[in-house]
Order: sequence, then C-alpha cells, then structure tokens
Amino acid sequence: MTRVFVLNGVNLGALGTRRPEVYGTLTLGDIEEKLREKFPQVEFEFRQTDHEGEMVGFVREARGSHGIVINPGAWTHYSYAIHDALEAVEDVLKVETHLSNVHAREPWRRHSVISPAVDAVVAGLGTYGYEAAVEYILKHLNA
Ligand code: DQA
Repeated sequence: MTRVFVLNGVNLGALGTRRPEVYGTLTLGDIEEKLREKFPQVEFEFRQTDHEGEMVGFVREARGSHGIVINPGAWTHYSYAIHDALEAVEDVLKVETHLSNVHAREPWRRHSVISPAVDAVVAGLGTYGYEAAVEYILKHLNA
C-alpha cells in the first residue's frame, strides 16, 4: 500500500479560523477527511506541530514511505533544520505545499529555504494543493 506523510508545521493547527480570507475556512481535520475519502488506496500519516524539532522527527519517520506532502508554514522561509532533514530523506517524493500564493504576498514569503530539498512546490491552490500533491506522488509512482 502507498504510504504518504502529510506534515503541517507551525500555526497550521489554527486553520479554519486563522485569516480565513487568506487560508480559507477548512480545518486540517477537513483536509485529512477529504484526502482519505479521495485516495482510499493511500495509507496517510497526518501530523501537525508547532515545534521545529518535532517536525524534524516527523520527516525522519517518513523514511521508507512513498511520499511527503509538507506545508512548513513560516518555517518555509528560514528553517535550515527542516531543509536538512528533508534533504537527508532519500527515495521519497517530497512536495512542499502552500495554501496561499506566497509569491503574491509580503516579499519575505517569496523565498523558501525548503524548496531546494523537495521535488515539487505547490502554492496558491488552497486546500486543493494537498490533493494535487498526492496526485503528483501517485502519478510519479505509477510512471
Ligand atoms: C503558508 C505560507 C507561509 O508563508 C505562512 O507562514 C504559513 C502558511 C501557506 O500555506 O500558504 O503559515 O505555508
């Protein structure tokens, strides 16, 4: 069975009520439900944390799985620790996913220190971005 880790970082536990005009009104629980419903063939591991070291642990845990969908939140812009953790996980497809279009917001959001360590980046598709990331992983595995 295909195993995919969906990792959400700092402040993403507040989805649903956090700046709904930017991030929408769906919660992480809603996103999880949607993914499980849409991809019954995938065994998902969902995790969220506001602690950087814990996120590093989740990334390590994903070794040996088929894919990582990671929304690092604000860590995207400065966490070399999460970059290094992702870089060290080999043979796993990694997709950095952002709900908002980070390129159309504050200038500091345009830079990701995570992107060099992943296979693909999704931004601005809202919650559909998570589905697109999983679709990409499945397509790639079947190719
Ligand atoms: C985000 C974009 C980041 O800049 C921000 O810090 C977040 C969420 C997104 O999903 O659009 O927390 O990763």
